[in-house]
Amino acid sequence: MNGAKRMTKVALITGITGQDGSYLAECLLSLGYEVHGMIRKASTFNTARIDHLYKDPHDPEAKLFLHYGDITDSASVTRILEDVEPDEAYNLAAQSHVRVSFDMPVYTGQVSGIGTACMLESIRKSDINTRFYQASSSEMFGFSPPPQNEQTRFHPRSPYAAAKIYAYWITVNYREAYGLHASNGILFNHESPRRGETFVTRKITRAVARIVAGTQDKLYLGNLKAKRDWGYAPEYVVGMVHILKHNTPDDFVLGTGTSNSVEEFLRFSFEYVGLDWNDYVEIDSRYLRPAEVENLQADPSKARSTIGWNPKVLAPELAKVMIDCDMFRCGLKPPDEGREILTRCGLDWVVEPIKEFTGQEVTTWRNPT
Ligand code: NAP
Ligand code: GDD
Repeated sequence: MNGAKRMTKVALITGITGQDGSYLAECLLSLGYEVHGMIRKASTFNTARIDHLYKDPHDPEAKLFLHYGDITDSASVTRILEDVEPDEAYNLAAQSHVRVSFDMPVYTGQVSGIGTACMLESIRKSDINTRFYQASSSEMFGFSPPPQNEQTRFHPRSPYAAAKIYAYWITVNYREAYGLHASNGILFNHESPRRGETFVTRKITRAVARIVAGTQDKLYLGNLKAKRDWGYAPEYVVGMVHILKHNTPDDFVLGTGTSNSVEEFLRFSFEYVGLDWNDYVEIDSRYLRPAEVENLQADPSKARSTIGWNPKVLAPELAKVMIDCDMFRCGLKPPDEGREILTRCGLDWVVEPIKEFTGQEVTTWRNPT
C-alpha cells in the first residue's frame, strides 16, 4: 500500500494551475513532498503560475509532475489516482467564478460539484490510502448573517454555491459512509498577486497600477456595498496542509475574522498611490449578479484552537502587496510596503512576490508550516 513503502510523502493537486494550486504546490515542495498535478489540455499554455516550479521529469531533482486530465472525466481521475497513489489529495479544481456560474450553471455543477464525487468514488474504489481535502467555500453561507462558522446554515445564492454545497456534503458522506479521511476547508475569500484578473480585488489592484502607468482611464465595477473577509492566499494553503495533517478528518472555516466592503478595498487601494477612487470608478450593471452574497465574515475560532491556524495579513495590507506586484509588472516603482509586510508576517517563503520585489529567483524555501 502507498505510504507504508515510501519515505517521501506524495501529494496530488487538482487545480494546480490556479491561484491556490500554485501556492499549495510551492508549500508542499518546500516541505519535501513529491507533488503531482492534474492539468487540462488547452490550445495555449495554462501553466504560467507553476512554470517556476517545473523541472524536466528526466532531471533527478524533479519533484513536480504533471498529468493531463479533467475532474469531470472519471476515467482520467481514476488513472491519475492509481498511477500516483497519493498520500494526500487536494481537490481544488473548479469553475470558481461566481458571476460566470450564472452563465454556465450546468457546467459549473459538473465541474465544481460532480467533479468531487468523481474524485471520492475513484479513491474509494481503488482502495488507496489517501487523505482527501475538498476546497469548500464561504459562498455556501450565502444569505446567512455573519459571523459564519462550521455551524452556520448554508443558503446558496449562486449556481457555484449550490455546486459547492453538493461537493461539501458528498465529502462528509464519504467520510461517514466509507470511513475515508475526507475533510472540507470552508475558505473565505483569499487573494494574491496571482489572483485571476476578473476577481474584484485583482481587478482593482491591476487597474490602480495601470492608471498610474497611464494605460487605463476608468475602472468599471458592480456592487460596491458587498462585504468580504479577504485574506492572503499563501496563508490559506498552509491551512489546507494543517487540515490534512490533523488525524481526525473534519471541516474547518478559514478566514481572517475581519471584513471590508468593495468600496473600502477601493479606497485603501487608491489611497496607497495617492489617488481618490471616486475619480476613476464607474458602475456597470453587467457586473451585478442576479442574486448577491452581501456580507461574509468568518468566525475562524475552531481552526485557531484545533489546528493552530492564525492568518496575519488583513485586507489593507493585502492590497499593498498586490499593488506593489501589479506596479512591478507595469514597469513602475511601487510604494514598496508589501515586502516589509510579508517579512514581518513570516511569509518570505512565498516565491513570486519576493522574486518580483527583489528581482532574484528564490531557490531555497523556508518551511512555511
Ligand atoms: P482558480 O484560480 O480559478 O483555479 C481553478 C483551478 O481549477 C485551475 O487550475 C483550473 O484549471 C482548474 N479547473 C477548472 N476546471 C477544471 C476541470 N474541469 N478539470 C480539472 N481542472 C479544472 O481558483 P482558486 O482561487 O485557486 O481556488 C481554488 C479552489 O478553492 C476552487 O475550488 C475554488 O472554488 C475554491 N475556493 C477559492 C476561494 C478563493 O477565495 N480563492 C475561496 C473558497 C474556495 P485551468 O487553469 O486549466 O483553468
Ligand atoms: N468579480 C467582480 N467583478 N466582483 C465585483 C465587481 C466586479 O467588477 N464589482 C463588484 N464586485 C463584487 C461582487 O458582486 C462580490 O460581491 C464581491 O465583489 C467579490 O466578488 P469576487 O471577487 O468575484 O469574489 P466572490 O466573493 O464572488 O467569490 C470568490 O470567493 C469565494 C469565497 O467566498 C471566488 O474566489 C469563489 O471561488 C470563492 O468560493
